[in-house]
Amino acid sequence: MHDELSQAFSLEGRVAAVTGAASGIGRDTARVFALAGAQVVLSDIDAAGLAEAVAEITELGGVAEAHAADVAQRTEVDALAEAAVRSRGRLDIWVNCAGVAATMPVLEATEADIDRLVAINLKGTYWGCAAAARAMQAQGAGSIINVSSTGADSAAAGFSIYAMTKGAVNTLTRTCAKEFGAFGVRVNAIAPGWIETPLANFRFRNAAGEIDPQLREQGLRDRAKASPLGLTGVPRDVGLAMLYLASDASRFVTGQVLRPNGGASMP
Ligand SMILES: NC(=O)c1ccc[n+]([C@@H]2O[C@H](COP(=O)([O-])OP(=O)(O)OC[C@H]3O[C@@H](n4cnc5c(N)ncnc54)[C@H](O)[C@@H]3O)[C@@H](O)[C@H]2O)c1
Repeated sequence: MHDELSQAFSLEGRVAAVTGAASGIGRDTARVFALAGAQVVLSDIDAAGLAEAVAEITELGGVAEAHAADVAQRTEVDALAEAAVRSRGRLDIWVNCAGVAATMPVLEATEADIDRLVAINLKGTYWGCAAAARAMQAQGAGSIINVSSTGADSAAAGFSIYAMTKGAVNTLTRTCAKEFGAFGVRVNAIAPGWIETPLANFRFRNAAGEIDPQLREQGLRDRAKASPLGLTGVPRDVGLAMLYLASDASRFVTGQVLRPNGGASMP
């Protein structure tokens, strides 16, 4: 009994690439995949964070390597997929996790603000889906996971551009699931609720940019109130959802948006 279940969730023998793996959700996802037996290729623009993340996994006895790539550059995303296959012999799992947020009212946003978020959150995910599917097509199997957000479902003042890119990520996920299913590749999205990471904790910072413990405590309390469970999320809550979608446990699941959000939003 036990073995049957562990096999369904095991990533033994699989190769996974994770973008945005130097920090937050991507970093913990890479760690979860390694703990489940995958060889992991971690990618980011933050070389120091990547080196730390690889060292952490290696220390745990996992197999990990770093490959720097800016997801806004199509050639770099293609090179990442090619490097993973060259180095590890195959590519089974790809997570488009690299992302940035920005807050400003619609009346103040500039074209440069829109172009930046579209380039990273949307086009980066688009290039990632294409590069991964190209590598997975020959194998006739694979799982691609795009990182969306609660922002795609629930409007929040100030988040127009971010929400727009994440809404488009959900739409892209469904189209890719239709196109890639023909050659055995599943495509799903994960839309996390608020998770404490460097991207999300900007409201807890003081004028000097440091985390203010009081602001943080109050902020966590407020966030928890949004959840019927009274919880705030941590990267591991998302990493375990990633494991489900990456593994054979979800072989019948494609084109879906999974929402680890403590029930804060129920579209
Ligand atoms: N933290 C949250 O509350 C939350 C909620 C919903 C969705 N998300 C999404 O989760 C993903 C991960 O965010 P996080 O909270 O872990 O943030 P984070 O800032 O901790 O990690 C994001 C990583 O992406 C990398 N990155 C940024 N631009 C890049 C680029 N052009 N190319 C490659 N890498 C780049 C950063 O260097 C960083 O390491 C994002 O897509 C974000 O939109 C986060």
